[in-house]
Amino acid sequence: MRILILGASGFVGGALHAQLGARHDVVGTSRSGNGLVPLDLADADAVRALVADRVDVVIHAAGIVDLATAQRDPEAAYAANVAPMAALLDAIDDAGAKLVYLSTDNVFDGTREYYDEIALRTPINVYGCTKAAAEQLVLARAGHLVARLPLVYGRSPRSDKFLARFTAPTIEARTDIVCNPLYLPSLAPMLEHLADETGVVHLAGAETVSRYELTTRVRDRLGAPARIVPTDNDSAPPDCPRPRRLVLRSVRHTLTGPGIDAALDDLIGPAPTPPPAR
Ligand SMILES: NC(=O)c1ccc[n+]([C@@H]2O[C@H](COP(=O)([O-])OP(=O)(O)OC[C@H]3O[C@@H](n4cnc5c(N)ncnc54)[C@H](OP(=O)(O)O)[C@@H]3O)[C@@H](O)[C@H]2O)c1
Repeated sequence: MRILILGASGFVGGALHAQLGARHDVVGTSRSGNGLVPLDLADADAVRALVADRVDVVIHAAGIVDLATAQRDPEAAYAANVAPMAALLDAIDDAGAKLVYLSTDNVFDGTREYYDEIALRTPINVYGCTKAAAEQLVLARAGHLVARLPLVYGRSPRSDKFLARFTAPTIEARTDIVCNPLYLPSLAPMLEHLADETGVVHLAGAETVSRYELTTRVRDRLGAPARIVPTDNDSAPPDCPRPRRLVLRSVRHTLTGPGIDAALDDLIGPAPTPPPAR
């Protein structure tokens, strides 16, 4: 299969580029190039030319992803996340290809126990609004897939933004925000398994944890000296409305990513065995 990955220099796109590249004919793009095909999503002619080049599937992992950045500059977020979608979809439809659009649990408000694919979108921040608007454009056409992801964690070949946090002396982590985070290497096989699906699918990990618990467990396994400072809605800087409980479930499939201990065994190596009791 010939796969075009938009945003292959990023955290998620970089891992997909490496993993899917081992089994498929994969082309990756980034804004700046850096060994990938340089592409600005706003350049509709360049998008059309790339998609027309014998592509079967386009995985869209590009755009503004940081919540606070999107909240500060809604116009830039809209320009990156929503405005290019119509021309991209036209190009994909004309080429007879399929779009796999990576979306987010932030299309929900975080007030419900869990969200499945049937739940209505209720975004409360700019990032979530742009992703919900882009989803709407994708789902208005037949034959494409929206894959909603929770927080993704793990190592990525070109953008190590998750593990890089643990080099700081202190890390603030919210105790009142929970989700079922997805271990990054489990995403590519899930997408391959669901290759024939269309509409919306939720992909998530097996465990529901707070940001504080996830950060602490990763820090402990890394043996990093970082001090984890617990924060909550009252003590964190008010940079962006953040949904509190984002638990993704699926009524469409039974796939889940590994639990956190199994993921950390893979990421860091097995936990040291405690010495035998005397
Ligand atoms: N990371 C998560 O925990 C998470 C959770 C849920 C959903 N997602 C979804 O997964 C996808 C990827 O997220 P990520 O965390 O991997 O993002 P990321 O690390 O910030 O990477 C973003 C990618 O988009 C590219 N890009 C940004 N603006 C662009 C533009 N105007 N034209 C072309 N390319 C542009 C960047 O290229 P340059 O490097 O050249 O700037 C980079 O390759 C997003 O759709 C996001 O909504 C991520």
